[in-house]
Amino acid sequence: MATIARSLSAVLLLMTATLSPARAFDIEAHRGGRALFPENTLVSFSGALSMGVDTLELDMGVTRDDVIVVSHERWLSPDLARDRQGQYVAPPGLPYVDLTLAQVKTYDVGQIRPGSSYAANFPDQKAVPGTPVPTLAEVFDLVRRSGNPHVRLNIETKIDPDHPETSPDPERFVTLLLALLDKEKFADRVMVQSFDWRTLQLVHQRAPSIPTVYLTMQAGPNPNVFLDRPSPWTAGFDPVTHGGTVPKAVKAAGGQIWSPLYYDVTADTVREAHDLGLEVVVWTVNKPEDMARLIDLGVDGVISDRPDLLREVARTKGIALPAAYPVSP
Ligand code: G3P
Ligand code: CA
Repeated sequence: MATIARSLSAVLLLMTATLSPARAFDIEAHRGGRALFPENTLVSFSGALSMGVDTLELDMGVTRDDVIVVSHERWLSPDLARDRQGQYVAPPGLPYVDLTLAQVKTYDVGQIRPGSSYAANFPDQKAVPGTPVPTLAEVFDLVRRSGNPHVRLNIETKIDPDHPETSPDPERFVTLLLALLDKEKFADRVMVQSFDWRTLQLVHQRAPSIPTVYLTMQAGPNPNVFLDRPSPWTAGFDPVTHGGTVPKAVKAAGGQIWSPLYYDVTADTVREAHDLGLEVVVWTVNKPEDMARLIDLGVDGVISDRPDLLREVARTKGIALPAAYPVSP
């Protein structure tokens, strides 16, 4: 008997050693789920929490009085923001760095401008007039109110090395962010993501326990990383000088998560990233057939404007679904 038990434990030990570690799949609501609700608002985040997601994805800007607000653009967008008279702001928009929080709060971002290409792209987004731009602190408060102890936030520093005048510099941005996370005691609930890897380098140095998410776009309209030349976005960690591939550059930069545009990834690059110990979380995937294909490729998470569809596809793949925590905005 003792011999059989010893052989069995040897087999089990071998199996444990050869199986790759289990990865929990990450269902992320992009901007809270912008195909369904006004993006990056308490309305969309409460919708996502009420449905059940693993992660709220959101974008950050900074006001003139140093408040972190949640917004994809570094300005009040002409496609989203209406003043108290109901007029959408004129192009090119009003930069947050020129506005106080009190000024930002006078605008309504609850309804896409009718006739815009954004409106055509998201015809099912529910209009919720009277919705303000939230601060990041207000999103933390919503998460607390929901009672969800698991949901995480994938928070993106919106900063552009080619347009330094439209945001604080990386140093200031990260200083403000880490101070807020410290004050709100939310550092253990967030991942910091960026196309501008300079901010991620500062997060590594100052708050090494916070996971960093290296965003990349190679084939899309605004590439931030190239295989054959350096980029101002990569803080010096270019594939051309760091191993020849994007996953190797992310690894060299110290990243834990590689977050590529979904049509940049292949089975080979997903495998390479995993071999390097990176997780792969793709954006922004809205068609069920693409979600299913990417899950089959082995990605560790999907960021989607349709978290409802993503939940359904994940369910059919046998992935455990995150619980719903209904909460009002
Ligand atoms: O998190 C990835 C995705 O949000 C990056 O693209 O432009 O929607 O912020 P964008
Ligand atoms: Ca984003």
